[in-house]
Amino acid sequence: MTRVFSGIQPTGDLHLGNLLGAVRNWVTDQHHNDSVFCIVDLHALTVPKSPGEVGAKTLELAQTLIACGLDPELCTLFVQSHVHQHAELGWILQCNASFGELNRMTQWKDKSGRQKEFVSAGLFTYPALQAADILLYDTDQVPVGEDQVQHIELTRDVAERFNSRYGETFVLPRAVVPTAGARVMDLQIPTDKMSKSAESDAGTILLGEELSRTAKKIKRAVTDSDNEVRWDPTGKPGVSNLLGILGACTGRDPESLADDYQQYGPLKSDTADAVVSMLEPIQARLEELRSDPGETNRLLAQGADKARSVAAPVLERTLTSIGLQPRA
Ligand code: TYM
Repeated sequence: MTRVFSGIQPTGDLHLGNLLGAVRNWVTDQHHNDSVFCIVDLHALTVPKSPGEVGAKTLELAQTLIACGLDPELCTLFVQSHVHQHAELGWILQCNASFGELNRMTQWKDKSGRQKEFVSAGLFTYPALQAADILLYDTDQVPVGEDQVQHIELTRDVAERFNSRYGETFVLPRAVVPTAGARVMDLQIPTDKMSKSAESDAGTILLGEELSRTAKKIKRAVTDSDNEVRWDPTGKPGVSNLLGILGACTGRDPESLADDYQQYGPLKSDTADAVVSMLEPIQARLEELRSDPGETNRLLAQGADKARSVAAPVLERTLTSIGLQPRA
């Protein structure tokens, strides 16, 4: 059976980009593949956090993922820091990734540029920990949005290098990106991707926000003045973003969807309706889950047990390949 692994950071609130680019596809994957999904709390520490902040966000994110349709009985859903093998393999892979490789990562360049006061060393070596997340599960496929593809390619490179240094140890994974929704853009600045860290939230749709606000944000989305509906992500980024969102919500090809519209108004209202009806049941389910955090914690503990049973032998295999002195 194909092994699928993916991760998400417990920082900020989940947004429409996370849902369409990743989480929605995980929900489908869990029915067909052996699927492992991880809340990567250690990754969240690469940017300074106050005490308790990451823990609270982790529980909230777990509840949101379950509300989106992840079923911990079908997939393995767990918290990264609950499975210590991630940090251990992360170190080993830092020693098998080069400074030059890490320095080429777009996310590192973006995020380090935004951190004015303190740029942690962890932010730089972050992709080695991400590689560990993936390789610990003998992963075949990694369903992600487009912005993560570079990290998955680095994971392959590091795995190949390790295998050629120490002998066949790791399965080489590949990224899987959706045809629509792989790169949801900011509604106000459609040349930037929708992000948790955007300066204003007018361009970001948060999964937990009031749905009247969601509809308003879509209706106020920046387009352009020629009023022609056409799929052209470079020339018409705002309009193409709306077509991409509507396509991802309805399962239709964004390019051919353009033929259905002569004006921006109807495109905006159909997109708003599609997003609102996708978010409505998620919000209702989230409300129920919030009333019983103990149950979510129980499911996460069960997920960590399942994850550990896969990760522990892979770490042992890695240590054996390197030939460290075995524990007596
Ligand atoms: P993160 O937490 O930033 O995002 C989680 C997932 O959401 C996707 N995504 C988007 N997709 C479409 N449009 C957008 N605007 C958009 N914004 C985010 C991301 O591509 C991602 O799939 N480094 C990862 C977390 C990670 C991970 C892993 C992923 C850690 N270990 C192992 C895969 C495998 C990250 O920061 O994702």
